[in-house]
Parts: sequence; structure tokens; C-alpha cells
Amino acid sequence: MALTAPLPAAHSDRIASAVRVGLTTHPRSLPPWLFYDEAGSHLFEQITQLPEYYLTRTERSIFAAHATAIVTQAAGGERLRVAELGAGSADKTRLLLGAVAALQTSVLYEPVDVSATALDHAAQRIAQEMPSVTVAPRVMDYTHRFALNTLPPGERWLVLYIGSSIGNFEPDAALRLLTQVRAALRPGDTLLLGVDRVKDSATLLAAYDDAAGVTAAFNRNLLVRLNRELDADFHPETFAHRAVWNATASRIEMHLESRVAQPVHIRALDLTLYLAAGERIHTENSYKYQPGQAEALLTHAGFHPESIWTDPNAWLTVLLGRVV
Ligand code: AVI
Repeated sequence: MALTAPLPAAHSDRIASAVRVGLTTHPRSLPPWLFYDEAGSHLFEQITQLPEYYLTRTERSIFAAHATAIVTQAAGGERLRVAELGAGSADKTRLLLGAVAALQTSVLYEPVDVSATALDHAAQRIAQEMPSVTVAPRVMDYTHRFALNTLPPGERWLVLYIGSSIGNFEPDAALRLLTQVRAALRPGDTLLLGVDRVKDSATLLAAYDDAAGVTAAFNRNLLVRLNRELDADFHPETFAHRAVWNATASRIEMHLESRVAQPVHIRALDLTLYLAAGERIHTENSYKYQPGQAEALLTHAGFHPESIWTDPNAWLTVLLGRVV
């Protein structure tokens, strides 16, 4: 018998209300943070290794080429303490932490994530592989609240927000999030932001609709999760995975499209939905930035965009914004 640990009440309330609002509003939608249960986090790890998903390896190649320049610029001759929003990108983070450790012998690294499990994994890997790094994980939903310790004179924060995660926020929410990060920092501190760029639509679409079907499984896993956590009766195989390039909004959209007309019961919400054949549930936006757009976002959030690094194709950019 499979046992599922009970979810903390506040967490399950948040899921219940987000699902109720999203599925009873037309067009129907579900929030992308729901992707990341245990199975979803595992599928996302697999996505990052797919040949079509250029994002992870391209960003890693930027760090492999420029980590020393990035952290030297951020430090500006002082000591760095490193915070990271989200713990999922620890693999790429190691390249940056290694460069900081080379500059100053030891590093204090504070990954911040809403998931204690994701933090544990990241912390264990880094502690094992990088003895000069002290990991101090912090469980916090940084989309709602963000705070950092005040540092002694001679030390600066470098906050990492990499992996193109900012792209999953609507433009106004992205600005709110970065403004909140800015408010937690002091002059001299920096934010390193990784964003994905607009490129040809075939490359973009393949990255979100891979041949092996891993992204499709990641998308459908949302329904598996609702079946388990809200006692729903979705038949995931009756939903097609759709990835769409919306050039006007500059974003990849993911949808789940009902192949047939069907009722769905969500017993924990006492809710029945009637889905038409071809009706879609919008599950994710992944915004792609035009040249200059990420700099403008940093400026609006109160950072001075100081430096930018990219790959030879200019597919991804990494920007350093400083509080002045
Ligand atoms: C986490 N995030 C940056 C991914 C992205 O590319 O928007 C999530 C993802 N969705 C489908 N594939 C990957």
C-alpha cells in the first residue's frame, strides 16, 4: 500500500484554492508551481538533460566560461556571501561557488526554497563535493516574502536567480519579485539573473515538446497530482500536451488539451467540471526576452545593470545588476 504523508494544512489550502479558481475561470488554467511535487521535480531534472532543452546546458556553458569574471565583478574587491532563489540549479551553482571559493578561500551559501526536500538534496551534494562551502539552507517562499541577514562591513551579497526561472512569472509579477529582492539588499550587493532569449520558433517549440515525451509527462503529471491530492478523477492519457509559441506575448505556453468531451470530478473541492473536446487547460508560460528587456526589468526593479554575459549563439543571457 502506498502511503502519502499528509500535507501541511496551509499548503493543501493553497493548492485547493488555486485549483478551484484556475479550473472554474475561462479559459481554464493551473499555476505552474503545481508542477513540482516529487515526481514533477524528478521529471524536470530529466528535462534539463534532454537534447532539445538547450537552456540548462547553455547557461552552464556561460558559467563554465565566465564564472571567475562574474564573481570577481560582483565582489568588487570585497568578500561575497551567496544566496540563491530556488535550490534546483545547484549543479550550475557549483561552478559559481567554486569561483567564489577560489577568490576568498571559503564561502557561505544560502539556498532559499519553499521545498525543504529540494534544499536538503542541494545542500548534501554541495557539502559533499565542496568542503570550502558552508551551506545554510533557508525554507522560505521567496515569491511572497524575502529577507536576508545584514552583513558585516567588507561583505556583500550576491543573489543568484538563474535557470531562467524568472521567465515563469508574468511581467508584473517578475517586476514585483525583483523589487522585493532589491529591498532586501544594500548598496554594493548584486543580483545575477539568468534569462532565456527569443530565438527561432522551431528551437523554442522543440525545447517544450521533446521527442521522448518527457515534457508531456511533466505537464500531465499535474493531473496525476490532482487525482492524488484532491481526490480527482482526471484520465491523464485523454489530455494532449500542447506547446505553443505566442510571438505577441513573447512566451512559450503549455496547455493540456482534452481529447474528448468529459466530466471530471474533484471530490475534495466538491466540484464537477465539464470539459469540451479540444478544450485546453493553460498550465505554464515561459517568457523569452528580447535584447534590452532584461536590462529594463533590472532597472525598473532598482538595480543598475552592470554586466552581461552570453553564449556564442546569444540564446541565453546572464546579467549582473547592482544596488547603487
Ligand atoms: C523552471 N523553468 C525555467 C522551466 C522553463 O523552461 O520554463 C520549466 C519548464 N517547463 C517545461 N519545461 C521546462
